[in-house]
Amino acid sequence: MTGGSVAPGGGAAPRGGAPAGAGPVPGGMVTPGGMAPQGGASLRLPAEHFVAGIVFLVAGGAGLVWIAPELARGLYQSPHVAGVTHLFTLGWLTTTIFGALYQLIQVALGASVRSERLGHVGFWFFVPGVAVFAPGVMTQSVVLHHAGLTGIGIGLACAIVNIAMSLKSAAIRDVVWYSVAVSMTYLCTTFILGIVLVHNIHTGFLGGGRVTTVAIHLHVAIIGWVLIMIAGVSRRLLPMFLLSHTVSPRLNAASVAFLASGLAILAWGLTAAPPSVAWAGLVLIEAGLAAFVVQGARNMRARKRPGLDAGLLHVRAALVVFVIAGLLAPFVLHRGADHRGLATIYILTGLLGAIGVMVMGLQYKVVPFLAWVARYRGRVGRERVPVVAQLTSPRAGRVGLALALGGVALLDLGVIMVQPLVAYAGAALFFAATVNFMLQLRHAAWGTIA
Ligand code: HEM
Repeated sequence: MTGGSVAPGGGAAPRGGAPAGAGPVPGGMVTPGGMAPQGGASLRLPAEHFVAGIVFLVAGGAGLVWIAPELARGLYQSPHVAGVTHLFTLGWLTTTIFGALYQLIQVALGASVRSERLGHVGFWFFVPGVAVFAPGVMTQSVVLHHAGLTGIGIGLACAIVNIAMSLKSAAIRDVVWYSVAVSMTYLCTTFILGIVLVHNIHTGFLGGGRVTTVAIHLHVAIIGWVLIMIAGVSRRLLPMFLLSHTVSPRLNAASVAFLASGLAILAWGLTAAPPSVAWAGLVLIEAGLAAFVVQGARNMRARKRPGLDAGLLHVRAALVVFVIAGLLAPFVLHRGADHRGLATIYILTGLLGAIGVMVMGLQYKVVPFLAWVARYRGRVGRERVPVVAQLTSPRAGRVGLALALGGVALLDLGVIMVQPLVAYAGAALFFAATVNFMLQLRHAAWGTIA
C-alpha cells in the first residue's frame, strides 16, 4: 500500500471524519466526496446491485460472442439476440441504475431511501427474475418466461414504489428529480410493452405489428428509461467528477424535455399516425441528444483537472458515439425494419457503444469512490490509506475503453461485411472489455493496493 493519510481525491483527510472535499465547496463547485453516504445510510443496497449488474454484464459479454454470427447476418430480432440483449439491458443497466439511484437520491436530492428492506426484497426478486427471463427469451420457454416475468414484475414494483416514495420526501425538486420521475414512468411503459411482446411470442397476436412494437419497446427502454436518467443525473454527476461548476443547466433541462416529449411523439408516429409525426418525434429526440452532448462537452471544457482519468475518458468517448448513433437514426427511420443490417448496427452502436461505454465510465467513478468510503473512511488519520485513484489501474481502464470501442466497431464492420468472423472478433474484444471492467471494480472493492 502506498501513500500517506490522504483523502479520496488526494488531499489531506480529516481525522476519522467525512472525506476531505466531501460535498459542496465555496463557489458552488461539488467534489467527488458529494457521493459519500449521508447519515447512517448503508452501502449494502447499492453494492449488491452493482455486483449483480457486473455479473450480468460479463454474462452478456459472453453471450455476445455466442450471437455474433446472427448479428453479422442482421438478425437482431432473433430470440438468441433478444435474450442476450436483456442480460445487458435488464441485468446490467437496470440493476445498476437501481443501485446508483439508492445512493443518488440521498446525495443529489436530499431524500432518504424510504425502505432499505424493500430495496433488498426487490433486489432478490428482480435479479433471479432476470436470470431466468433472459434464457427464457433465448429458448422461448413458456415456464421460464412466466417465472422470470413474475420475479421481474415484483422486483420492479418494489423498486419503483420505494424510489417514488423516496422522491416524495426529496428536499430538492430540480431537473434531476423530474428526470428520475419521468424515466421511472418510461420504465413502467417498457415493462408493459415487454409483457405484450412476451405474450406475442406465444400467440402471435400482434401479427405484422410485432416489428413496430419491438421498435417502440426498445426506444422507450433505451431513451426513455436509460438515456433520460443519464441526461438528468449528469447535471449533478459530471460537475462532481470533473470538479467543474455546473455548466449550461438550461441545456440539461432542455435535453430531458426534448427527449421525453420526442419519444412520446415518435412512439405515436410509429403506430398509426402519418410518417411526418414519427419524423417530428425524431427531430425532438435529436435536439435532446444534441443538448445532452453539448452540455457534456461544455462540462468537460470547464473542468479544473487538466487530465481525464479512465472513467472520464469513457464518458467523453461515449458522447462521441452518441453523436454517431444520432446520425444513424434518420437513416433507420427512413429505411425502416427492412434494412436489418442497418437496424442491427444502430442498436449495437447506441446500446453498447454509447449507453454501455457511458455507464461503464460513470461506474468507474462511482464504484471506487464508494469502495474507498466503505474500506478506508474509518481508517483515515489512524493509518496510511490510498487515494481513490489508486484503487483501479489507469492503464487497464484505458485498455478496457479501447477494447470496448474496438469491439463495437468490429461488430458493426462484421454486420456491414456480413462476415461472422469479423463479428466474432468484435464480440471477443467487447467480452474482454467486460472482464477487464469486472476485474478493475473487483480490485477496487476487495483488492490490495500495490
Ligand atoms: C421490463 C421488462 C422487459 C421485458 C418483459 C422485455 C421483453 C422483451 C421481449 C419479449 C423482446 C423480444 C420481442 C420479440 O423479438 O418479439 C424484447 C426486445 C427488446 N428489448 Fe426488452 N423487455 C424488457 C425490458 C427492456 C429494457 C429495460 C430494455 C433496454 C434498456 C430492453 C430492450 C430491448 C431491446 C433492445 C429489444 C430488441 C432485442 C433484439 O434486438 O432482438 N428491454 N424485450
